[in-house]
Amino acid sequence: MPKQNNRKNEHVSLSEKFYDQGKSSFEDIRFVHHSFPQMDVRDVDLSVQLNGLNFAVPFFINAMSGGSRWTGKVNEKLAIIARETGLAIATGSVSAALKDPEQVSTFKIVRETNPNGLVFANLGAGHGIENAKKVVDMLKADALQIHINAPQEIVMPEGDRAFSDWVDNLQSIVDGIDVPVIAKEVGFGMSRETVQLLEAIGIQIMDISGKGGTNFAQIENYRRTDQKLDDLESWGQTTVESLLEAKEVVQQAQIIASGGIRRPFEIIKALSLGASLTGLSSQFMHMTLEDVDQTIKTVHAWKSELASTMTLLGAKSVSELQKTDLIISGQSSDWCTARNIS
Ligand code: FNR
Repeated sequence: MPKQNNRKNEHVSLSEKFYDQGKSSFEDIRFVHHSFPQMDVRDVDLSVQLNGLNFAVPFFINAMSGGSRWTGKVNEKLAIIARETGLAIATGSVSAALKDPEQVSTFKIVRETNPNGLVFANLGAGHGIENAKKVVDMLKADALQIHINAPQEIVMPEGDRAFSDWVDNLQSIVDGIDVPVIAKEVGFGMSRETVQLLEAIGIQIMDISGKGGTNFAQIENYRRTDQKLDDLESWGQTTVESLLEAKEVVQQAQIIASGGIRRPFEIIKALSLGASLTGLSSQFMHMTLEDVDQTIKTVHAWKSELASTMTLLGAKSVSELQKTDLIISGQSSDWCTARNIS
């Protein structure tokens, strides 16, 4: 890993330092076993569609990398994995390339390595339509993720302190861009009020990215040299809580689940809680830094594990999985009670 003097390098190496945060909210979810699956493994169709985008499998490599020489190389490795497995891939925030043209290649490498795959560009909610168009053009992106990350900015020593124009920015991007827009949290989760607000301004895809995996309050606290904001490290809703919130109110929009998803069983649980697609970040970073070829093999094994588990649940498709019987316990059940979620 490189000498630390760049925010993007620090984010990647700190996500690795804090990889595996222990207990996951998915432990609160159990399935009811029914003895007759009444289908065959080969009946399973893993593909999903979101707002005109076709995904071969219900998981993808979520936003992380680019913006420095080293993270450009990491992006190339992630893009090779995406190309060889058919996974969609999002770049990290392309704002670094808007500020410094030398960084453009560290993002473009994703499209160059994976010319025919689904590639998402990523930008923060502080940007308006002009920059949104620039980054979509730069990557010939199939969709644009706009990250909404107020707690991270607050803890980040050099972070933004003004958030009053974020909703207007998002609105102008949804109205003015001709690719699907994904409104995305970064590991703090979404409330049903947020989901309703996003839907009201026309967002069709939301990544609720909840607590339980990468914790940007912890990462930014580590980068602070002055007073740390330790209490904010427990800020936010878990991925399970956020999915339950979204399920309660969402009308037309489709939900992506991310935050602490590390293996096929957690993908299945997130889908059964109403997500149409799942995004994995730190897990892919962890595997990719270790061994690209092995990661490709693991992704293929995951596809078959997903099909096997869906068969046990009698679900031929992700939409059938969304109707599976499940039991919610522990902190996730307490959350439902406190928020009157039935
Ligand atoms: C991220 N994440 C992120 N999100 C985003 O929208 N833009 C970005 O630039 C980044 N950068 C970034 C760097 C690194 C190293 C990591 C690990 C993560 C957040 C990411 O997409 C996701 O929302 C959270 O990390 C939660 O998922 P995991 O990591 O728990 O699977």
